[in-house]
Amino acid sequence: MASRRDFLSSGAIVAAGFALAPISACSREAAPAAAPAAASADTPFSGTLLKRKIPATGESIPVIGLGTSGNFEIGDDAAARAPLREVLKRFADAGASVIDTAPTYSSAEDVLGELVADAGLRPKVFLATKLSGVSGREQGQAQFEQSLRRLRTERIDLLQVHNLGDTRTQFALARELQQQGKVRLVGLTHYREQAQEELAQYLRSLKPDFVQINYSVVSRGAERTIFPLARELGIAVMINRAFEDGRLFAQVKGKALPAWAAEVGAGSWAQLFLKFALSDPAATVVIPATSKPKNQTDNLKAGVGAMLDAKQREALIAAVE
Ligand SMILES: NC(=O)c1ccc[n+]([C@@H]2O[C@H](COP(=O)([O-])OP(=O)(O)OC[C@H]3O[C@@H](n4cnc5c(N)ncnc54)[C@H](OP(=O)(O)O)[C@@H]3O)[C@@H](O)[C@H]2O)c1
Repeated sequence: MASRRDFLSSGAIVAAGFALAPISACSREAAPAAAPAAASADTPFSGTLLKRKIPATGESIPVIGLGTSGNFEIGDDAAARAPLREVLKRFADAGASVIDTAPTYSSAEDVLGELVADAGLRPKVFLATKLSGVSGREQGQAQFEQSLRRLRTERIDLLQVHNLGDTRTQFALARELQQQGKVRLVGLTHYREQAQEELAQYLRSLKPDFVQINYSVVSRGAERTIFPLARELGIAVMINRAFEDGRLFAQVKGKALPAWAAEVGAGSWAQLFLKFALSDPAATVVIPATSKPKNQTDNLKAGVGAMLDAKQREALIAAVE
């Protein structure tokens, strides 16, 4: 198994080569399978999802994950479960695994736990949840026990301290749970660029296994604050809000895809936005949220073929602004 040190040395090579080559040429991942010329949103997913390594363990995870804020907050609504079952089926059939949730996303943990258990998917998914909105060790411990029950699992793959709330106490608890084997990996999250300087300080002092941040074609602060540090310290990066909670689609409404999209096998704006998010060598996984099977298939297609090179990134920024 590759160590954190192995990753750091290969990461330096990757960082040096980044300005010159698309991420598909990156030395720490297998060469991606060729993408179809135009992976339009409507055809079924085919191909092999690209994987990247979690530096702390050397474990490889697929680059396309799934968020659950909003889309899984459906309470007892039976009719809304059918499309979500299909979203999960397509996700797992494609070989994707990372799903991010939180105890404070109303019913999302319950719904996710139920649907994953019904489909027998627990062994195939990498479950990430959070210690969220709690204060003090006791509250954090109680919330974690509740998450295990709601998610119908005995172990969480990644436990993250949400939005820098009560950070030191909750992170110490997460590390304790990791030592007890109840949690495999620990992390910190935020969703606003204004918090990234403070987040960076915590990365230096706490050295979590993962950091989750917002990053998109219009929110690029992480390039300065988080990505270089994550490479330096060997921290995996999970990206939220790659679609700015869906707002990016309004900005390109009615615009034709750029001609160069076909060069990276992208057949939709969603695929370009996700490939953008994954273009930095430090990005490990992106977690778009959807409640629609068709959009799930679309998003999965971003995880095949090349990501964007420096010129393509600039062109996408110009197309959106
Ligand atoms: N502090 C934190 O830690 C934090 C904060 C925010 C978010 N998160 C995590 O990050 C995840 C993602 O962030 P997010 O949910 O805010 O937003 P997002 O992934 O940027 O955007 C989700 C929106 O995009 C739409 N969408 C998805 N795929 C699409 C496609 N292929 N074509 C067109 N529209 C598409 C969805 O609508 P449809 O359902 O109609 O597809 C939904 O409205 C969250 O679910 C959560 O797990 C964490």
